[in-house]
Amino acid sequence: MYILAPSILGADFSMLNQQIKAVSDAGARYLHLDVMDGVFVPSISIGMPVISAIRKCSDQFFDVHMMVKEPGRYVEDIKKAGADLICVHQEACIHLDRTLHQIQSAGLKVGVAINPATPVEMLDCVLDQVDQVLIMSVNPGYGSQKFIPYTLNKIRKLRQILKERNLKVDIQVDGGVTLKNVRQFLDAGANILVSGSAVFAGDATENTRAFMNILKEYEAKEK
Ligand code: DX5
Ligand code: ZN
Repeated sequence: MYILAPSILGADFSMLNQQIKAVSDAGARYLHLDVMDGVFVPSISIGMPVISAIRKCSDQFFDVHMMVKEPGRYVEDIKKAGADLICVHQEACIHLDRTLHQIQSAGLKVGVAINPATPVEMLDCVLDQVDQVLIMSVNPGYGSQKFIPYTLNKIRKLRQILKERNLKVDIQVDGGVTLKNVRQFLDAGANILVSGSAVFAGDATENTRAFMNILKEYEAKEK
């Protein structure tokens, strides 16, 4: 299944409600929420109050990307705020196995993310414990960056490993995904696309529709 996950980091926060409604009405079933702590990544973004506020105006699947050191500390709070999936960075968890179990025990879908310079092999031991792997295609922390080309090879490699091990895990890609380059990520094997600036800069409805049309094409090819 191919999915678009608009990242609200690229949205206009002064009209967040309308922007979320626009992407949802145009077909985006996921919403990607970037939580940053100023420690794991240089910047600070949103946290529990914003997530619970938008939970009231959206029935989309809330995919929470934790760019936070030791995110296990926040699993319960993020769940309470309305998350459906919590995705933690391998680099941010000393006891990754424990943190992933914590998320699963909380009744949420489990995601694990890796930075561009972290090889996919770092996830070998936990691949059968996750619903989603997020391959960062930029160094996390900011929107509107250019994607790093070698991350495409990581997507290809991971897709191959999952196939060999017969595991059904989503591959999400995040950072610098645009309407122009999106096919490269899909061809490499990603099936969930995160996009911030390419969705929200300009007409969010039009941009979402354009992404959705490409995803439908890939969906049809699979049948
Ligand atoms: C970056 C965040 C992304 C960001 C993507 O660290 O994880 O989700 O919003 O933004 P774009 O699509 O503009 O690169
Ligand atoms: Zn993100």
